[in-house]
Amino acid sequence: MSDTQVTDAHGEAIDDDKRDFIFIATGAAAAAGAVSLGWPLVAQMGKAADTLAAGSIEINLANVAEGQQLKMLWRGVPVFVRHRTPAEIAEAENTDISKCPDPQTDNERLVAKPDGTIDPRFLVMVGVCTHFGCIPVGEAGDYDGWYCPCHGSHYDTSGRIRKGPAPKNMTIPDYEYISDTVIKVG
Ligand code: FES
Repeated sequence: MSDTQVTDAHGEAIDDDKRDFIFIATGAAAAAGAVSLGWPLVAQMGKAADTLAAGSIEINLANVAEGQQLKMLWRGVPVFVRHRTPAEIAEAENTDISKCPDPQTDNERLVAKPDGTIDPRFLVMVGVCTHFGCIPVGEAGDYDGWYCPCHGSHYDTSGRIRKGPAPKNMTIPDYEYISDTVIKVG
């Protein structure tokens, strides 16, 4: 039993049983979507079976067009790879983070290449709402980023929580650039 009263998008109370159902149902549906969208793309990218077994995935960012979001499963969780538009990058960089519930600059949410440069176009994060684990919808919400329909959390174009019950920004997974355009997650 939770001590916290949870409400839906209309402010109506959601009891624990219903809340858990929403979480499970939404998570399952989103995971299925991630599988159907993600694995074929991973396969196209020539993913080695031994790397999959080790829990790492390699992603060629050159295959993700501007404005496109790639979704895939990594260690059982969805990972979003978003090729952000110039407008999305500008929004992410020009945010007054003192007003954010979980203050982080956009650069703090990006990983540098081996030469030390940062490519702000590509945002890589675990696509799970930090409230109760639903899968947020992209290009939605009040901040043009992601919106979690379960209880109304709004994330910006950097995946930072801006409004709603989620306490933290969406998580940045452990990843690195292994070439100029290829990253390894995990
Ligand atoms: S799971 Fe509650 S707002 Fe996302």
